[in-house]
Amino acid sequence: MEKIVFATNNAHKLAEIRQMLGSRWQVLSLAEIGCHDDIPETAETFEGNALQKARWIKDKYGYDCFADDSGLEVDALGGAPGIHSARYSGVHGDDTANNEKLLGELVGIADRHARFRCCIALLRGNDAPAFFEGVVEGEIIDRPTGIAGFGYDPLFRPDGWECTFAQAGADEKNAVSHRGRAVEKLAEYLAAACN
Ligand code: IMP
Repeated sequence: MEKIVFATNNAHKLAEIRQMLGSRWQVLSLAEIGCHDDIPETAETFEGNALQKARWIKDKYGYDCFADDSGLEVDALGGAPGIHSARYSGVHGDDTANNEKLLGELVGIADRHARFRCCIALLRGNDAPAFFEGVVEGEIIDRPTGIAGFGYDPLFRPDGWECTFAQAGADEKNAVSHRGRAVEKLAEYLAAACN
């Protein structure tokens, strides 16, 4: 098995990626390589932040690594909250406050179109960085609906769906989500790279 680090400690993301990459890869979390660093995310783009995280691990710990960065882009807000999605309300990771802030910003605005975007950066051997992007288009509804998932899921209804991500099961969401699509591309790339 080839070892590769996924620069996260998010158990849900780890389980998803381990399942998709299969038995050929031993996917290690940050905790599993003894990394408890506060890895900087100071870039202006999802790509830049993902690469910054992967580069940190590769340079400091020597492992091949991939990292992801994702967020919500709302057209009427010029792409906000974007890379600031996790801390839109000012408090990092306060989903309820972030959702309230988003609804407040959209009061009276008819154009509710939005998308989730995910970028994965991969650093393998001495290869140039490889990037994998996934996007899911949808709209922001008027009030939080559903209790599954996290983040902006209760406000996001994907195009063609009758319900929000927070009303869907994990498998249903992963099949169309920004992260699911980016991970699928990464898995295809790694499978081809190993043949
Ligand atoms: P991360 O890069 O995956 O940590 O995501 C950053 C932030 O974007 C999260 O804290 C959420 O606010 C938002 N976000 C990313 N992906 C999702 C998702 O699948 N559902 C809801 N919110 C998300």
